[in-house]
Amino acid sequence: MSGVQNKVVLVTGAASGLGLADAQLLTEGGAKVVMTDVDQERGAGLATQLGATFLQQDVADESRWLEVMAVIEQQHGRLDGLVNNAGIAPIADIEKSTTETWRKTLAVHLDGTYFGCQAGIKLMKASGGGSIVNMSSTAALIGIPDYLAYSAAKGGIRSMTKAIAVHCRREKLGIRCNSVHPGSINTPMVQNAVKQLMNIDLDDSAEKKRKAMGIGEPRDVAHMVVYLLSDDSKHVNGTELVIDNADTVV
Ligand SMILES: NC(=O)c1ccc[n+]([C@@H]2O[C@H](COP(=O)([O-])OP(=O)(O)OC[C@H]3O[C@@H](n4cnc5c(N)ncnc54)[C@H](O)[C@@H]3O)[C@@H](O)[C@H]2O)c1
Repeated sequence: MSGVQNKVVLVTGAASGLGLADAQLLTEGGAKVVMTDVDQERGAGLATQLGATFLQQDVADESRWLEVMAVIEQQHGRLDGLVNNAGIAPIADIEKSTTETWRKTLAVHLDGTYFGCQAGIKLMKASGGGSIVNMSSTAALIGIPDYLAYSAAKGGIRSMTKAIAVHCRREKLGIRCNSVHPGSINTPMVQNAVKQLMNIDLDDSAEKKRKAMGIGEPRDVAHMVVYLLSDDSKHVNGTELVIDNADTVV
C-alpha cells in the first residue's frame, strides 16, 4: 500500500511542471488530491483527467487561501498534506531588476508560502497532524545571478520552512515542514529560461541534449515530494533536500 493512500493533499501550481507531476504521482498512490493554480482552464482539464479536484487560486491572495481551505474542509473534512509549489521565475540580475518584478516574485513565493503554511497548519491541526512541503530551489543555496529576486525568495522559503518545523515540533502539532531544492528540471519554466539565456530548445526531441546538460525530469522531484508527504518520512523534519544530480545547470 502506498504511503499516501487516502491522504488529502493540496498541491499549488499544479497545472504544469513539478506541481502536475506531484499531482499525478499522488493520485497514482491513492491520495485525494486538490490541485490549485492561477490557470483555471488548464488546471481544471488536467484535474478531470487525473480524477482530482481543481480550484482556481492565486497563492499571493490571502483571502483565497481561506476559501480554498474552507472548501477542502467541507469536501474532505481534513488536510494531511500541502505542497507549496506555485512559482514564477523572471530573469533579471541586480542591475536589471525592477521593483515591480522584485515585489511580484516575493509575493508569489514568499507571501504564497507563508499564507499557505498558516492556513494549512490550521486545518492540519484539526486533522491531528500533517506534512508540508515547500518548493525551494538550489537558487536558495547558491544564489543565481540572473535570478536575483527568485534566489532571495527561495532563500526565504528555506529559512521559513525551518522556523515552521521547529515551531510545530515544540508545540507538538504532529506537523512536519520540509523544503525541496531542485536543480534544473525539464518544465516549461526551465524550457523558457534555457531558450532565453542559451537559445536552446528543450522540447521532447531534445532528449539527448537535455540529458547531456544534466537536466532532470519532473518525476525525479515528485518521488521526493511523495516520500515527504508519506508517513515513511515521519522523522524527516525541517530539512532541505537537494535534487540536482550534483549540479545546477542554468
Ligand atoms: N523547474 C525547475 O528546474 C525548478 C527548479 C527549482 C525549483 N522550482 C520550483 O518549482 C515550482 C514549480 O516550477 P515549474 O518548473 O513546475 O514551473 P512551471 O512554470 O512549469 O509551473 C508553475 C505553475 O505555477 C502556476 N502559478 C504561477 N503563479 C501562480 C500564482 N500566483 N498562484 C498560483 N499558481 C501560480 C503557473 O500557472 C504554473 O502552472 C516553482 O516554485 C519553481 O520555482 C523549479
